[in-house]
Amino acid sequence: MIDIKSGHEIGLIEEAGKVVKTILEELGKIARPGTATLEFDKKAEEIIGKFRCRSAFKGYRGYPGTVCVSVNEEVVHGIPGNRRLGEGDIVGIDVGIEKDGYFADSAITLAIGDLRRGAKALDLIETTREALRLGIREAVEGNRLFDISHAIQRHAESRGYSVVRDFVGHGIGKKLHEDPSIPNFGAKGTGPRLKSGMVLAIEPMINEGGWEVEVLDDGWTAVTKDKKLSAHFEHTIAITENDPRILT
Ligand code: MF3
Ligand code: CO
Repeated sequence: MIDIKSGHEIGLIEEAGKVVKTILEELGKIARPGTATLEFDKKAEEIIGKFRCRSAFKGYRGYPGTVCVSVNEEVVHGIPGNRRLGEGDIVGIDVGIEKDGYFADSAITLAIGDLRRGAKALDLIETTREALRLGIREAVEGNRLFDISHAIQRHAESRGYSVVRDFVGHGIGKKLHEDPSIPNFGAKGTGPRLKSGMVLAIEPMINEGGWEVEVLDDGWTAVTKDKKLSAHFEHTIAITENDPRILT
């Protein structure tokens, strides 16, 4: 069952979303060569401490971090630790917050230091960002859920990249993960009909090489099987009677 949120509830999700956005902006400022991924966790905790809220990830099924930080071949769910960013790396930062009983979730991928213009990594990042934008554009009343999925897949594959199958976007609001699951691949014109008041976390994960991923021995970090790059962007959005409303 896909929950329909009231305007009041969407406002509360947006308040959580503002904290998520602030954290991502601040973490972006320390994303440079030499930064250890644990520094993102520390900084996020510092900001969380200033608001009446908590990390939606810490403790979720035993996840140990406050945020997720995924470098290069890491797709999602990288645990912050001693890995240091180097010139030319790409880093995915994923932040989820619960505030006053409501959740918001968002992710970005950044290039570290000087990437040569036209570098493959930058193209992968831009393609994933654009895939998210095109997916969100389909999140309108009357469309079907997999119209979103299809738009993402079509864009990524048209650029020669592949779509991760093992992880998906999700409904969000009173919990971090609600119905429906939102794959980043699918057939146009299929899936549940979209209605005003649905709140969705749309999150394309796009690989430079093959779509296959595996999870490391830490039980969390998902990496590409071929060890090629992966990028991830995510927004929490609400479907309205007009354009989709981005809450993060
Ligand atoms: N954005 C991710 C998600 O939607 C992050 C979850 S990390 C976890 O699932 F630790 F909370 F699982
Ligand atoms: Co998510």
